Amino acid sequence: MRTVMPTDGFRDSMLTGLTRRPRAVPCKYLYDAEGSALFERITELEEYYPTRTEIGLLSDRGADIARVVGAGARVVEFGAGSMRKTRLLLAALDSPAAYVPVDVAREPLLLAARRMATAYPAMTVAPMVADFNHPLVLPPDAEGHGPVLGFFPGSTIGNMMPGDARDFLRRVARLVGPGGRLLVGVDLAKDPRLLEAAYDDSQGVTTAFIRNLLARANRELDADFDIRAFDHRAWWNAREGRVEINLIASRRQTVSVAGRLFAFRRGDAIHVEDCYKYTVDQFRWLARLGGFVPEEVWVDSGNLFSLHMLLRA
Ligand code: AVJ
Repeated sequence: MRTVMPTDGFRDSMLTGLTRRPRAVPCKYLYDAEGSALFERITELEEYYPTRTEIGLLSDRGADIARVVGAGARVVEFGAGSMRKTRLLLAALDSPAAYVPVDVAREPLLLAARRMATAYPAMTVAPMVADFNHPLVLPPDAEGHGPVLGFFPGSTIGNMMPGDARDFLRRVARLVGPGGRLLVGVDLAKDPRLLEAAYDDSQGVTTAFIRNLLARANRELDADFDIRAFDHRAWWNAREGRVEINLIASRRQTVSVAGRLFAFRRGDAIHVEDCYKYTVDQFRWLARLGGFVPEEVWVDSGNLFSLHMLLRA
């Protein structure tokens, strides 16, 4: 077990994020225990197609994936979550040697890692508490000879600005080493109506998830947000190729956060998340810039989601 975690940056990120214009707070702070539970509910919504589509691809294409990767792989997953998709991947692979889940949420990570170790007694499970936005090295327990396969499902790469995604891919390329690969799930650009519905569902689960940023500030930073005075809005920005998610003040108000006061006029926005969507060719181009050679791509019959197998250049 290695711990590579700077001090909790939520407070600083909120204070600087509310001071800058436009106001913006990094989306990683959506995922405390509350937010992670709300996100799990999002993945079960009719409007939110990415999770079930990617799971379908992993189950249907498991044999193809295993053939490319080969036996004895060491799998490194970035942002491990519930490991539901990991189980599909590991079940498909030919005797995986090691599994290294990397996540910032320590307790859920250790719990899920333990369950995984029980399910795969012959496999080394070496969880790493780390922010994958910083440089990464394989933990000593995962040293060995099998090919390294990075795994980054969920289109989480879509939360990064393309330049940051390229830099992330370069760090992963260095980590997986010569002969290493990355299997990455990427949501595809599509009809904006489908995209906007996926990020603003009829049951309001996504609204609760996005507002949880403010609720978390109330819990942890002694803030006094009236979370219902901030509307959740998701719109497709065609020029940038992304869904933009904001919280919009529905009235004039002043909010206290960690002892500081922040004034909002009606209509003022807090930017919470960008979700970039790519065509297959756009993402392959990005992968090349990130130090990989696109090897295979699997897309569902509805052209909703893509799984890219990238080989380190
Ligand atoms: C977990 C980042 C992949 O961008 O689709 C879902 C997060 N935000 N609904 C996504 C999210 C609002 C999700 N990722």
